[in-house]
Amino acid sequence: MSERVKQIVPDLIEAVRNVLRDHKVTFDEYRAGFGYMIGVQEAKEIPLLLDALLNSTIVEIENQTRGGTKADIQGPYYLDENYPLVTKALAVRPEDADAEDMIIRGCVTDLAGQPVSGAEIDIWHSTPDGLYSGIHDNIDRKYYRGRVLTDADGHYSVTSKTPVAYQIPNQGPTGELLEKHLGRHSWRPAHIHFWVRCVGKRDLINQAYFEGGDYVGNDCCETDHLDLVVPKIYENGKRVMQVNFVLEPAYTISAG
Ligand code: DHB
Ligand code: FE
Repeated sequence: MSERVKQIVPDLIEAVRNVLRDHKVTFDEYRAGFGYMIGVQEAKEIPLLLDALLNSTIVEIENQTRGGTKADIQGPYYLDENYPLVTKALAVRPEDADAEDMIIRGCVTDLAGQPVSGAEIDIWHSTPDGLYSGIHDNIDRKYYRGRVLTDADGHYSVTSKTPVAYQIPNQGPTGELLEKHLGRHSWRPAHIHFWVRCVGKRDLINQAYFEGGDYVGNDCCETDHLDLVVPKIYENGKRVMQVNFVLEPAYTISAG
C-alpha cells in the first residue's frame, strides 16, 4: 500500500494545486473551503460526501477489468457486520405493513452460465419512505437488511417492501454543496443494494433500479450503471425484482 500512496498522493496534491492555480484561488476562498471541510466533519458527512462525489469513479475503474455483471456503488449505508441470515423475508418495519409488497429474486451464474450455489448475497435497501435502518431515525437495524444464500440451482428469493426514490440527507453540507452551490438535486432513483460473495468468485457490489422510476438515469451520485434496471413486473400485486448476477472468478495472486 505505501508504494501506492507514494505514487498517488503527490499526483493528487499536484492536481489540486493546479485547480487552485487555474482559478487563482484567493486566501479567503481557501479559508472558506477549509471551513466547509470542517462543517462536513462536524456533520459526520465525510462518508456521504465522498461516496456521492467519488464512489462512481472507483466503480468505473473497477468495471474496466470486470467480466460478468458490472458493479455499482456501495454507498455509505452498508452496515459492516454479519447480516442476519434470511430464507424467505427481510424483516419489515411494522408500520410499513400497508406498503407495496416486493419479491427480490434471481439467480447467480458463472461466466459459463453454470449456476453458482452457496453464494452469499447481502441485501439492503431503504424503508418505503426513504430511510435506512441502523442509520436514520433510530430505525432498528434488523429491518430491510439480510443475507440470503443461493440454492443448488443458483437461485435466491426473498420478500420485502418496495422502496421509493431516495433523497440523500440534504440538510447538511453535502446537500448544501449539491443544491445551493452546484445547482444540482440530491435524489437517487429507488434502488436495492447487493453484495454478492462466493468462494472462488470476485465479490460483486451492485444495485438494482426500478424501470420507469423517478431519477433513473439522473442520479445525484452520478452512477450511470443502468445494467440492472428491472422491468416493471407484478405477480399477485407484488412488485417482482428479478435480479441476476454473473460472477467472474476471483483474482489469483501469482507468486512473483
Ligand atoms: C449514497 C448512495 C446510496 O446508495 C444511498 O442510499 C445514499 C447515498 C451516496 O453515494 O452518497
Ligand atoms: Fe442506497
